Amino acid sequence: MEMLTLNNGIKCPVIGIGTFMLAPEDAENSVREALKMGYSLVDTANAYVNERACGRGIRTSGLSREEVFLSTKLWPSEYENDNAVDETLERLGVDYVDLLYIHQPAGNWLAGYRQLEKAYKAGKAKAIGISNFEGKYMAELEKEWEIVPQFIQVEAHPYFTQSELRKTLDKYGIRLMSWYPLGHGDKSLMNEPIFKSLGEKYGKSSAQVILRWHTQMGFAVIPGSKNVDHIRDNLNILDFTLTEDEMNEIAKLDNGVRYYHRTDEALAGFAAWRPAFEQA
Ligand SMILES: NC(=O)c1ccc[n+]([C@@H]2O[C@H](COP(=O)([O-])OP(=O)(O)OC[C@H]3O[C@@H](n4cnc5c(N)ncnc54)[C@H](OP(=O)(O)O)[C@@H]3O)[C@@H](O)[C@H]2O)c1
Repeated sequence: MEMLTLNNGIKCPVIGIGTFMLAPEDAENSVREALKMGYSLVDTANAYVNERACGRGIRTSGLSREEVFLSTKLWPSEYENDNAVDETLERLGVDYVDLLYIHQPAGNWLAGYRQLEKAYKAGKAKAIGISNFEGKYMAELEKEWEIVPQFIQVEAHPYFTQSELRKTLDKYGIRLMSWYPLGHGDKSLMNEPIFKSLGEKYGKSSAQVILRWHTQMGFAVIPGSKNVDHIRDNLNILDFTLTEDEMNEIAKLDNGVRYYHRTDEALAGFAAWRPAFEQA
């Protein structure tokens, strides 16, 4: 597995399993099978309401806790709950996470970030991150952080490469973890002719070429899947390398268009929504 070295010296695998929109039984299955076949990074969140299931998937995978890089996210309704981190750890069934994000720049997000810093100092989070903190939110946080985050998790794929945000990230050595790396099931990205032709050249699927592009951009990537064949394919991308010319060709697909368009109303809705956590 290729690893990224974070700005605090911690290492993170470049490929992981994402679990957004996976029902608990699917999340447990995907996590267990992924870890059994060689994955070591798992990404979940309070809001996915599958943290207990991910924890079960880890425990039944045969891997020890130390062999897994576990990432989760505090939801805005938890930012002012002083027990949010401990309750998250309890749901996952672990005494630390490798990476803890605040999920959205909504509600009292600074209180949420302070919880991350506290958890980091207490050894409950080995690395901390921000999710969806682009533009003005990143600029505001920059003035407030005591500990510089190790990661940002944002939408990124060949149609939207976060070129503006990456200028700030490079300044601080903050790593990017891509969400919607394959377009969240939208076929237009995967059907781009360049991925088909590169796939033929390297004996890979279009999805595999896109995921390799992410890792060569220096991103960590966490494709979501409940299909074991896809999960296997998504790991099997490190045995070929796109040339500089091929990376430059793919760069031409960047049209600055996201799949997900967040509004202020949506952020207010996020702050008001409370996940109905799985019961033990
Ligand atoms: N921080 C945030 O706000 C945020 C937002 C969204 C997502 N995320 C994280 O990012 C992860 C990835 O995003 P995502 O799951 O929404 O989107 P995605 O990874 O871009 O796409 C997932 C879709 O692609 C399909 N797929 C996966 N591998 C494939 C392959 N090899 N060939 C063909 N189809 C394939 C999956 O279907 P099958 O199940 O059939 O394989 C699923 O429909 C999430 O799971 C979550 O952990 C974070």
